[in-house]
Amino acid sequence: MENKKNILTGDRPTGRLHLGHYFGSLKKRVELQDKYNTYIIIADVQALTDNFENPKKVRQNIYEVAFDNLAAGIDPNKATIFIQSLIPEIAELTVFYSNLVTISRLQRNPTVKSEISQKKELFGNKGESVTYGFLGYPVSQTADITAFDGALVPVGEDQLPVLEQTREIVRKFNSIYGETLVEPEAILSSNTRIKGLDGNEKMGKSLGNAIYLADSYEEVREKIMKAVTDPNRIKKDDPGNPNVCMVYYYHKLVNEENIKTVCEECKKGKRGCVDCKKDLIESMMNFLKPIQERRRYYEERPELVEKILMEGTKKAREKAKEVMKRVRENMKIDYFKES
Ligand code: TRP
Ligand code: SF4
Repeated sequence: MENKKNILTGDRPTGRLHLGHYFGSLKKRVELQDKYNTYIIIADVQALTDNFENPKKVRQNIYEVAFDNLAAGIDPNKATIFIQSLIPEIAELTVFYSNLVTISRLQRNPTVKSEISQKKELFGNKGESVTYGFLGYPVSQTADITAFDGALVPVGEDQLPVLEQTREIVRKFNSIYGETLVEPEAILSSNTRIKGLDGNEKMGKSLGNAIYLADSYEEVREKIMKAVTDPNRIKKDDPGNPNVCMVYYYHKLVNEENIKTVCEECKKGKRGCVDCKKDLIESMMNFLKPIQERRRYYEERPELVEKILMEGTKKAREKAKEVMKRVRENMKIDYFKES
């Protein structure tokens, strides 16, 4: 058990999780939980970097994100789910790592850059006032991972530059203070970036183009009925091009067994877009069914979820303390034996 590698991954509690999260990371972490020691961080400190004015939102979404992980199939007997802000070692490590990264390197990080430009689009000038904390989130994410000897990190493609920065910090730390930290590797899912229903390259909460794991039939129906199809198809029997159609794109994700038929019928003009969307709604609800059943199980037992989070956090803390001890020794700040 002890020589199993550790996985560290997680989510910001800023809202419920959607299909982008599922295919980008959740699915992979569920598959891997049997093989590795899996730690799942509910990154409330990171969520606060751009939601510090909205503590209620972060608080409420701790449970939403826990429900979504459990609903996706994370087994609390195998994986350790914990809350970031309750692990003070992460904050300590963040302080030490902040010496090992330059401000210009952070500003050049493509993930941070695109998140900043997205904010500008959403909030205009207000988006320009980037805080020290937000700019530095790759540093604290490095602490999230290294505090648990995370060797493998399943993340979506958008997070790759952040992980690259983590690797740089780890290498720098180890070269100065001696081999101390594990240098993590990303695990990418094959469907690493899920497009939005509107055809946008990214599915995102703030983009309003996402299907949530907890969406009801009505919500799924409404969203799929509005999805972008082949714009050149005017009449029902016009031959279509599924490759430019978002409905087809989602059929590929959740209706694999019928994908050939959908494709051929579309190309031959034998399939109306409305019927095709109705099929997709059915397939989507079938896909979501087991996920939503598990969610309901946990929603009806909030005290069980509280226990899972408390015990997970306690276990995670033990591990972080062990790593912190190593860090203190190697940084020569282990002044008294007992601390
Ligand atoms: N940044 C990740 C996201 O936005 C969440 C996260 C926080 C994370 N700490 C992490 C992911 C550590 C992997 C490892 O989804
Ligand atoms: Fe898209 Fe289906 Fe219409 Fe073809 S028939 S364009 S796959 S919605």
